[in-house]
Amino acid sequence: MKKKIAVLAGDGIGPEVISQALRVLDKIAEKYGHQFNYQPALIGGAAYDKYQEHFPAETKTICQNSDAILFGSVGGPVEELNQEKWKSCEVNALLGVRKAFNFNANFRPAKVRSELKNICPLKNEIIKDGVDLLIVRELVGDIYFGEKKFFNKDDKRAALDAAEYDENQIRSIAHVGFQAALKRRKKLSSVDKANVLHVSKLWREIVIEVSKEYPEVELEHVLVDNCAMQLILNPSQFDVIVTGNMFGDILSDEAAVLPGSLGLMPSASLNKDGFGMYEPSGGSAPDIAGKNLANPIAQIESAAFMLRFSFNLEAEARDIEVAVEKTLKQGFRTGDIFEEGKIKMGTKEITDKILENI
Ligand code: IPM
Ligand code: MN
Repeated sequence: MKKKIAVLAGDGIGPEVISQALRVLDKIAEKYGHQFNYQPALIGGAAYDKYQEHFPAETKTICQNSDAILFGSVGGPVEELNQEKWKSCEVNALLGVRKAFNFNANFRPAKVRSELKNICPLKNEIIKDGVDLLIVRELVGDIYFGEKKFFNKDDKRAALDAAEYDENQIRSIAHVGFQAALKRRKKLSSVDKANVLHVSKLWREIVIEVSKEYPEVELEHVLVDNCAMQLILNPSQFDVIVTGNMFGDILSDEAAVLPGSLGLMPSASLNKDGFGMYEPSGGSAPDIAGKNLANPIAQIESAAFMLRFSFNLEAEARDIEVAVEKTLKQGFRTGDIFEEGKIKMGTKEITDKILENI
């Protein structure tokens, strides 16, 4: 198979973890006889240096001409955040790409692996047999993309962000949620705030309509405040969670605590044509950038998601995931997931081990 991949490394640890993911893809290409052609493009602060824009047109064109996008991370160091280069960098870059390609479905899995149980901040009796949940977040609607303004009201400064969904947007993400549940343990938790919000009342109505097409999936409705609590009290109860953009943003950060490190969380964002962008859930971590300290696993597993979702290469994706699993079982760890008695390694060295296991 021959594929063109847009590689948007971005800022901070982005370039170093992406280069490790490309080594893994090269190994897969060699083992299975594929050809991956990488098209590097600038994004975030790295793009600003050249174009004074965080998501330049040239980058968009490169993405348009590719079969998938592998994305690193964007954003600058805390002490530089008031520089023009970093102002609204994440919003411009991320929301820009999401909107440009209409990536409406965002997949954020959270797994507590048995070999990393001790780095999960929850007690062992809460984790029980482990946690394996998937958040399906709607990504191009809701309060993120509704009407926005600052205005004056009775001589007071006021602001507004309108949360809006139409039935087609909800129906579309509901199908994505049910389809995902079908491939897993067949339970879907739809999260809303239907006791208060109109948007959520419509959300619930449409999700119930769509559920008629999926009789084999068990559907429950969970209010977002309760869901936030249940994720800590009993995360094993969840299989797939489907929710809107804002609730999904918050709940996915909460769920990201469970695996023990953001460096373990891959993600995928897809549009209705199946075109996708793949990125680690963590940020650009400028404090450890360029020091060979970053955990490359989230980026490597994001590349595995790309093989699975964009190229339909399930065996190849599994091969990567099993190799990562094995590497962790062998006790090799980056600093963020290090425990006493394990072997601490750098970004490049742990990737060497993963490559040996492919
Ligand atoms: C995320 C981020 C973004 C979001 C920000 C940086 C715009 O928090 O991908 O979750 O809110 O979606
Ligand atoms: Mn977020």
